[in-house]
Amino acid sequence: MVLTLALSKGRILDDTLPLLAGLGIVPEVDPESSRKLVLGTNHPDLRLLVLRAQDVPTFVEHGAADLGVAGKDVLMEHGAAGLYEPLDLGIARCRIMVAARADAPPIVGRPRVATKYPMIARRHFAAKGVQVEVIKLYGSMELAPLVGLADRIVDLVDTGKTLEANGLVEVEHIADISSRLVVNKASMKMKHAAVRDLISRLAGAVGAEHGRPRRAAVGSV
Ligand code: ATP
Ligand code: PRP
Repeated sequence: MVLTLALSKGRILDDTLPLLAGLGIVPEVDPESSRKLVLGTNHPDLRLLVLRAQDVPTFVEHGAADLGVAGKDVLMEHGAAGLYEPLDLGIARCRIMVAARADAPPIVGRPRVATKYPMIARRHFAAKGVQVEVIKLYGSMELAPLVGLADRIVDLVDTGKTLEANGLVEVEHIADISSRLVVNKASMKMKHAAVRDLISRLAGAVGAEHGRPRRAAVGSV
């Protein structure tokens, strides 16, 4: 039985490949340099898809992949109601924050919020009873308050260096973020043994990363 695991290029791939390597799973070609989007591995019963981060939940939800690795930010934005989320991989850790210019006045009226995460932003401000105008951007959110495009941004923060370099400060914490293993609901039933085996081996590898003893490896993926 072949399992398909969806990964996203960039940080998540960089952090997931060592986890897979720890389980003895290695892609047939280097995903960072190859143009291939479907990659076999040294295990004939596991293949990888290389996607945009935002597309991972869609592929898994529709069963185009059995499993995937996606940032909690992407899952919160997507909704991800049709997926199981059995494991926090503890990689690509950051937090999603509201930020503003250090000299920004308090919010009055209906603030403009620039973000790649319209759903998360709307939900966050609605829970506080604040109506916002959301301005959807695809990157460089930090620029928006500097040029008068927005009063606030909702964006990921890790070290805080990007905010600092642009004279912005964190004003509200929305959620802590890390990457999660997600599983298609039908695959969890139909390919139960193989899916469970991969989940438990990844859980062992993640535990080992955090200093707990590694679980004994089992033969198949
Ligand atoms: P794309 O380039 O396809 O638009 P992206 O820019 O969101 O996607 P990455 O920057 O690789 O792709 O981010 C992928 C995931 O990594 C995010 O969804 C988030 O969970 C996490 N992440 C993003 N930025 C950081 C960061 N600075 N530190 C730690 N984790 C991060
Ligand atoms: C992410 C995020 C922030 C930055 C935060 O951007 O959107 O801009 O990292 O990290 P820091 O707090 O450590 O500075 P990324 O590097 O992925 O660039 P992009 O999303 O604009 O491609």
